[in-house]
Amino acid sequence: MIKSAPRTASEAVSALKKLSAEVPVAAVVLGSGVSVLDKLVDAAVLPYQDLFGMAPGVVGHSGTLTVGRVEEGGPLVAVLRGRFHLYEGYDWSTVTLATRAIVEWGVPNLLLTNAAGGLNLDYSVGDLMVLTGYRDHLNPELKATGLLPAIAKPATDCRNKLSEKLVSVGETLDITLPQAEVRPLQQGVYAGLLGPTYETMAEIDMLRKLKADAVGMSTVPEMLCCDGTNTTAAAVSVITNVWRPEEAMGGHEEVLEASKNASKRLDKLFKAVLAELG
Ligand code: HPA
Repeated sequence: MIKSAPRTASEAVSALKKLSAEVPVAAVVLGSGVSVLDKLVDAAVLPYQDLFGMAPGVVGHSGTLTVGRVEEGGPLVAVLRGRFHLYEGYDWSTVTLATRAIVEWGVPNLLLTNAAGGLNLDYSVGDLMVLTGYRDHLNPELKATGLLPAIAKPATDCRNKLSEKLVSVGETLDITLPQAEVRPLQQGVYAGLLGPTYETMAEIDMLRKLKADAVGMSTVPEMLCCDGTNTTAAAVSVITNVWRPEEAMGGHEEVLEASKNASKRLDKLFKAVLAELG
């Protein structure tokens, strides 16, 4: 059965306005095991239960929204820990509820994160991949199954600007993986699939032929629902595994471990980008 959230975006916005009279400069959505911005100053916390009328069910997500400052007098940010996925049986409007609330609240920037499998064989576990502007994602299943609703509007060039900022700020930081040496951030195309099972090797071959660099099960609905609004979205994938023919896939625990290590570098990147946005 398809599940729906009991609250609307407008109801969530009322709760957000009570939590903070000031609209944050950015909202950050944390995917499986991604842990950044966990020490905010003047923080106010609201559980998703109170905000959306329900809590997310996947391990590695705490299901809270925190509004606070990166440092005293610094930019105000909303950090959303956890999201609702299509593979959990939620409908499109539930999966995009948090994003629609962020848009309606007037938050100008949305930074999405996710755990993803690497398809590009130049990638390493722990890499951070910025989804590159106009060429940011593939969405084969939603388009094929007609699940994509009419709300999706044409993308504007905003997505380019925010993802370019992530890359240009990233170039100035010491966040390169020790074994990588080459560049601090990868840039690539994210294939959003419904899941919840990981891909077969035949699907991995297919996605490589489609020129996807990473694969995951979220982010695309949230990106799409910012198109045509005053909220600019950009996304970063934490590469938790790389699909190599000779290697077995790790389970959810390994995914969480790889995310934890990459989170430290992502934390530096987001703090530096937020300082520029604020
Ligand atoms: N596929 C899909 N989703 C994922 C993966 C993967 O390999 N790794 C982490 N999330």
